Amino acid sequence: MRKAIYPGSFDPVTYGHMDIIERSAKIFDELIVAVLNNQLKTSLFSVEERVNILKELLREHENISVVSYDGLLVDACNGFGAHVIVRGLRAVTDFEYELQMSQTNRKLAESKVDTVFLTTDLRYAYLSSSTVKEVAYFGGDISEFVPEMVAELTYQKFKKG
Ligand code: PNS
Repeated sequence: MRKAIYPGSFDPVTYGHMDIIERSAKIFDELIVAVLNNQLKTSLFSVEERVNILKELLREHENISVVSYDGLLVDACNGFGAHVIVRGLRAVTDFEYELQMSQTNRKLAESKVDTVFLTTDLRYAYLSSSTVKEVAYFGGDISEFVPEMVAELTYQKFKKG
């Protein structure tokens, strides 16, 4: 059974993430989408909200589950029984950070965990959750960047604020 974990902040999930999730779910028998509950970073959506959004968007995929994790990713990999981490690469600018993270995780996991990279679909190569939030904050159109329900929820957050 080939099981992989796709970790991230997903604050909020974008079409770029969705593309990586759907492609990975075809490569692996089971894909765990893991949302980091990051105490060091303030997020727009709570971890529960991010998990629920992903669950709703992915409810038709039988081999995908959505979870949250605290602390080290390698500990989450161990807990969920995953030996492969999936990450998306948008551009060369992602590479250095991703390389560092992959090497650190491999070291921490004593070579029991490897990272597999998928290159992001060119349609989404420029996309990031931070850009989506900034555009939404200033009232711009994010409908091409995120699924409809995510767009609505993101605008709602800024209206409340
Ligand atoms: O979507 P992001 O924010 O680029 O994802 C980064 C993430 C969440 C995968 C990464 O920061 C993470 O797993 N952090 C948990 C702490 C950890 O394991 N750090 C050591 C690896 S550098």
